[in-house]
Amino acid sequence: GIDPNFDSNREKVGEEELDELRSSASETEFGDGVDVWGPVEPPEKLGIHGTHVAVDYDLCVADGACLENCPVDVFTWVETPGHPESERKVEPTREDQCIDCMLCVDICPVDAIDVDGS
Ligand code: SF4
Ligand code: F3S
Repeated sequence: GIDPNFDSNREKVGEEELDELRSSASETEFGDGVDVWGPVEPPEKLGIHGTHVAVDYDLCVADGACLENCPVDVFTWVETPGHPESERKVEPTREDQCIDCMLCVDICPVDAIDVDGS
């Protein structure tokens, strides 16, 4: 599953590098305003997205239970064509709305989500 200590074990991808990734030939979407923790090498390696609600893109298999069941609609789909696990992922776009219910953490079949609420 996701490393709960990702924020000390990984480095945050800078805004400049994120802008480059967004405008590069890669079709992978990188949401605005969500931190990304590297390493990132599209399309195969996409890092961990978010900080309070963090999704390991390299583990997510696009199950969708997190997005469908989150009571405050934190997640949105983004396209990740060419990623070995799945061609879309959930971005924690509204992580600031999270009420720390832990439902997404418990429901994800591959333990791809960490919520730093407890
Ligand atoms: Fe949504 Fe609950 Fe997960 Fe927060 S912990 S993102 S509120 S399901
Ligand atoms: Fe992905 Fe797990 Fe959600 S596989 S779509 S993070 S339930």
